[in-house]
Amino acid sequence: MVPFALTLRESSHEPMHRQLYRELREAVLSGRLAPGSRLPSTRSLAGELHVSRNTVMGAFDQLLAEGYLEGKVGSGTYVAQKLPEDLLHVHNRLPGSPGAAPRDVVLSRRGAILASSPVIPPRPHRAPRAFRPGPGAYEQFPVRIWMRLLARRWRGPLRDMLAYGESAGYGPLREAIAAYARAARAVRCDASQVVVVSGSQQGLDLISRLLLDPGDPVWIEDPGYLGARGAMLGAGARLSPVPVDGEGLMVSAGLARQPEARMVYVTPSHQFPLGVTMSLARRLALLEWVRRSGAWVVEDDYDSEFRYAGRPIAALQGLDFTGRVIYLGTLSKVLFPSLRLGYLILPPDLVEPFSSARALLDRHSPLIDQAVLADFIAEGHFAQHVRRMRALYQHRHDTFIEAAQKELEGLIEVEPQDAGMHLVGWLPEGVDDAAASRRAIEHGVEAPPLSAYALERQPRGGLLLGFTATGTREIREGVRRLAQALQANRTAAGER
Ligand SMILES: Cc1ncc(COP(=O)(O)O)c(C=O)c1O
Repeated sequence: MVPFALTLRESSHEPMHRQLYRELREAVLSGRLAPGSRLPSTRSLAGELHVSRNTVMGAFDQLLAEGYLEGKVGSGTYVAQKLPEDLLHVHNRLPGSPGAAPRDVVLSRRGAILASSPVIPPRPHRAPRAFRPGPGAYEQFPVRIWMRLLARRWRGPLRDMLAYGESAGYGPLREAIAAYARAARAVRCDASQVVVVSGSQQGLDLISRLLLDPGDPVWIEDPGYLGARGAMLGAGARLSPVPVDGEGLMVSAGLARQPEARMVYVTPSHQFPLGVTMSLARRLALLEWVRRSGAWVVEDDYDSEFRYAGRPIAALQGLDFTGRVIYLGTLSKVLFPSLRLGYLILPPDLVEPFSSARALLDRHSPLIDQAVLADFIAEGHFAQHVRRMRALYQHRHDTFIEAAQKELEGLIEVEPQDAGMHLVGWLPEGVDDAAASRRAIEHGVEAPPLSAYALERQPRGGLLLGFTATGTREIREGVRRLAQALQANRTAAGER
């Protein structure tokens, strides 16, 4: 008999001899079968386990061949006397695993920067509560239409769909994106300038890798988008935070702080997270500086579809006379983020290097998804979805503002916005926004502090209040809870 239970499962996909091999090997490695101990004969073990003798012999043969067991002719099979020390420690105590002795992992310099990125991987999914900024009304996504288009693509013809695709993206999708960007965003481009990427994040990564050297100075909006900050830091850039006022990025402040910058990251249509639109004067000043300095502009136009009042604001790229603006779009906001599709619209001479580099990263985005998206746009579903979501989000926005006017007076200032998926609530002077945000969590409300998006101390604290992911009842309830949280925060601060 072996001195412990062996658990072989007939229902497993793993053949019996393989299961037995694995179990015995683990017993040897963990010391449950001591070196030199004798194993039962193949016949008796087969009887004990109700398996064929061949099964046991198969497992023993493998263990003998690998040196875990030793056979002594005429006297049976034994656990090897001398197992290499490191083999004995593989089991359970793999270096680097929890419980093992700590060790120094030396990441490369680049690896250390990447590993400390400010972009936090999402926690295991919890449904968004009021007022998590970011998610949209995913339950409204026209799943049936998408499924129909997907099924049609799978029915064929499949030859091209299953082979590698072009790294710049699926041709008809590049056409559809270029047509959309020209019509809806006044971007000056044709399809040959479009490179489809796996979300803006990959676009930012490519831009940073291809156009920045370690140590290069970059202007970045402050407060600003953590994904952009992370990608640029990942390329070793030196970030120069540039403040944002009611007219967007303060170009003169950037010039005063870092006139040598090689790149500037901006969200001109709807600054993230403050929501302001960059004025024409600032756009022209930025382009004029770019013309003189030869720096690159990265225009992240992440949520421009959601404008509720006034005319759509044309993209900065459409004003560009320097050929140094890179336009970045995403489907994450307007459709859904797990699709991982976005696009770069590049000056023509960057298309080739970007496509080649893209091929090295992951070759291209999944072809069938790109084809379905192209169909979704070409057949009018995209435009219809945008219209529906715009109306829904406007309604949710108005519900929030109405409730806020009743409940939040004196606690936080929230102005209606013409665009976007979240609002900024400004706290009274001197109130710490991180503390207010923690208090909101205690009351079941998610409202990240503005300071979490800033590199430098901000003149006034605020909370980000997303209004797109939850229905109107939850919005009203969330506003009530937020009022309670802010009251409690005020009381606690008064007592301190
Ligand atoms: C400023 C900004 N850009 C881009 C994105 C979208 O990123 P991705 O396309 O990688 O999902 C977001 C999403 O939150 C954002 O806030």
